[in-house]
Amino acid sequence: MATGLRRRLLLLVLWTLAAPARPGSGKAGDGGWQRCGPGVPAAVAEEQRCTVERRADLSYAEFVQHYAFSRPVVLQGLTDNSKFRALCSRQRLLASFGDSVVRLSTANTYSYQKVDLPFREYVEQLLHPQDPTSLGNDTLYFFGDNNFTEWASLFRHYSPPPFRLLGTTPAYSFGIAGAGSGVPFHWHGPGFSEVIYGHKRWFLYPPEKTPEFHPNKTTLAWFRDTYPALEPSARPLECTIQAGEVLYFPDRWWHATLNLDTSVFISTFLS
Ligand SMILES: *[C@@H]1O[C@H](CO)[C@@H](O)[C@H](O)[C@H]1NC(C)=O
Ligand SMILES: *[C@@H]1O[C@H](CO)[C@@H](O)[C@H](O)[C@H]1NC(C)=O
Ligand SMILES: *[C@@H]1O[C@H](CO)[C@@H](O)[C@H](O)[C@H]1NC(C)=O
Repeated sequence: MATGLRRRLLLLVLWTLAAPARPGSGKAGDGGWQRCGPGVPAAVAEEQRCTVERRADLSYAEFVQHYAFSRPVVLQGLTDNSKFRALCSRQRLLASFGDSVVRLSTANTYSYQKVDLPFREYVEQLLHPQDPTSLGNDTLYFFGDNNFTEWASLFRHYSPPPFRLLGTTPAYSFGIAGAGSGVPFHWHGPGFSEVIYGHKRWFLYPPEKTPEFHPNKTTLAWFRDTYPALEPSARPLECTIQAGEVLYFPDRWWHATLNLDTSVFISTFLS
């Protein structure tokens, strides 16, 4: 057996042993995605810790006044995407788009390399838990570069957060990624990110507070090597969001993500 494969199997076994039973990750509510592998160990999940405000039924006026230009917020109850969620189950996406070619990016800060692969191959062969020893520039991640013509029958069912910023146009990026994967620190314009299935942990810093990170290391490696030693004053804002929740990130805020299990998600970038 090839060493790579053996190492991957060993990791899988270790992660299976360490994975906590997480509420909401039962077979019924996970769209069939958790068969792609176990979640991350409990020490990584630590879902209780949320230092981003969570707001249910926030009005547009409050959003603009308190968050749009100043700080992130987790939004709840703004839209009902249950129809879209049902269409995003593993079985239905494979049935509708299995043969569609998707463009994968490397999971590092400056992702230049792209690989085109049939969606089915990505799901069946690459969508496994992140190998903690591999580098972000060697890890392929499905997020963005979506073909909205080919996938129109899916995206027309998505209701984005109903908040707009003057002078910006919304653009979607859709993705599916394995447990332990994520994009390391980077920044861009403002936007929203909604979890459809799974749990996604976010780490955020304001524009003036550049975090310490290596652009080719995974978020998992940063979380393991750098995060535990951070002084309280150097800690990021953070929160784990789950299906139906939307994180808003303002313009130029640094952010890194860590998928705690196989996650399906969609961002609405405002630019
Ligand atoms: C990934 O990055 C590392 C360190 O930054 C570098 O040594 C390695 O060659 C890169 N791998 C690829 C496939 O480019
Ligand atoms: C990161 O990896 C890319 C290619 O994958 C390489 O060109 C670049 O030099 C690496 N960056 C650093 C800081 O090592
Ligand atoms: C999107 O998919 C359509 C239909 O398969 C194809 O003709 C088109 O070239 C694709 N667009 C891009 C940008 O890949």
